[in-house]
Amino acid sequence: MKKHRLPLLLLLLFVLTDLSGQLRVIPKPLRVQEETGEFLLQKGKIVYTAPELREEAFFLAEWLVRAGIPTQTSVQAGMRTPGNIVLFKVTSYAPEEYSVRITPDRVLIEASDRPGIFNGIQTLLQLIDNREQQAVRLKCGLIQDRPRYAWRGFMLDEARHFFGKQKVMQLLDRMAYYKLNRFHWHLTDEQGWRIEITNYPLLAAKGGQGTWSDPDGTEAKYYTQEDIREIVAYAARRHIEVIPEIDMPGHATAANKAYPEYSGGGTPEHPEFTFNVGKEETYTYLTAILREVAALFPSRYLHLGGDEVAYGIRAWETDPAVQALMSREGLASVKEAERYFMRRMSDTVDRLGKVLIGWDELLDLEMDPSRTEIMWWRHDRPQNLKRSLEEGYHTVMCPRRPLYFDFIQHQEHKWGRVWSGFCPLEDVYAFPDKELAKLEISPKQQQLIRGIQANLWTERVHTEKRLDFMVFPRLCALAEAGWCAPENKDFADFERRLQDAYSLLDTEGIYYFDHRDPQRHPEPEGCNPPRKKEVPMDFRD
Ligand code: ACM
Repeated sequence: MKKHRLPLLLLLLFVLTDLSGQLRVIPKPLRVQEETGEFLLQKGKIVYTAPELREEAFFLAEWLVRAGIPTQTSVQAGMRTPGNIVLFKVTSYAPEEYSVRITPDRVLIEASDRPGIFNGIQTLLQLIDNREQQAVRLKCGLIQDRPRYAWRGFMLDEARHFFGKQKVMQLLDRMAYYKLNRFHWHLTDEQGWRIEITNYPLLAAKGGQGTWSDPDGTEAKYYTQEDIREIVAYAARRHIEVIPEIDMPGHATAANKAYPEYSGGGTPEHPEFTFNVGKEETYTYLTAILREVAALFPSRYLHLGGDEVAYGIRAWETDPAVQALMSREGLASVKEAERYFMRRMSDTVDRLGKVLIGWDELLDLEMDPSRTEIMWWRHDRPQNLKRSLEEGYHTVMCPRRPLYFDFIQHQEHKWGRVWSGFCPLEDVYAFPDKELAKLEISPKQQQLIRGIQANLWTERVHTEKRLDFMVFPRLCALAEAGWCAPENKDFADFERRLQDAYSLLDTEGIYYFDHRDPQRHPEPEGCNPPRKKEVPMDFRD
């Protein structure tokens, strides 16, 4: 026996050396200090040192059991209780900051708050997932990490196409794994109303009929309030806040199909596109809807859309109720009627104890920055980002380019949007430093930036396979762009770590675009006519 010990040690040393500097975690942690030795996880004993960390301990335990590692949890007060994995609350860390210290006798995850502990757990899960050996051998060392931005979001449009609870939960799982923490849910639009409102049951029952690719469909597709509660709780367990969007006063076609008495009309291209901002009953109706929505979602925010009202606003010029409102209130234009409407809805949101968030069109409505936040989406109007910050609005950056995931990600792809360019992985990864530098956003203004978000509009996404293909791996690049300080970003290194994401997606049966081998996973067909020509290479700038 004895004579075998040296070669075995050498072999072990070789394995450890080979892994040095090769930490396989997305998003890349801020600081990693490798040490000699390893921790062998054979069965999990999780000790959580504060009762409020129970949920996180159970989340980790369930995961380990599913991974075939028998696990128990126990709570123990007191300092750094020895155990396989210890969750420990400290006082000195920033929000969401965490450390993971791996020594031969334990893994210690420390943070000052529950999201921080949860982030540490995700890092540990990735280390376990990405191991090369069968046994869980973790190299000793210290990982210290914290996010660049507090808001790392993803938006899913389920009004155009409806995907359902299982798909949403799978997305929430992937988001949590990559430390994304805001799920913005676009639930209402022209093609469908997807949330049950008990006081106005036709919104879902009638407004939920049809999709973008099947406008005359008769099956109502929507989430019941029970579904919503289940998804919100599922997200909360993963420290993801769900922000519901009820779009108004435009994009209201599906609602108006259900309750035409509140319609403000539209145009031949966008019929019944708006709510009627002139009728007093509209405010009662929308307030009742928002009251139900606010009760379902614990989020700090209600998203009221506010985008592209111009598509239908001309109808207000001849609508008697809107005209009566304008003369009563002394409003000189329909734009002023829009402003009047949104300010009143802002009061409603305020009374419901929420903060109004909406698209960057709200900048023209001169809202109150102390209770309104902005999502900058029009990449062709970069000045809107600057203006939003200059006017004191907290702002989330989600410009079409590069953060609209319904845009194509490769020049040969035939379904999906382009706009003087598209949204390849590299551009998602590089966001937002070039843009911030170009606009000369001062450090003080940058403090108002909540973070970044990618949006998946689903006019061109009608199947789960296509959804996955548009989302992955760009979601991984988004996660790293939102998390990592600019000096810690390195695309080549990210590509190396992406191999682990690809293996995991394979295991999970999630279809993705393999950016290094574009033919490997062909583009799933979209429901719209394909683009005739290839997008030229120089289309990117
Ligand atoms: C948007 O893309 N209309 C916000």
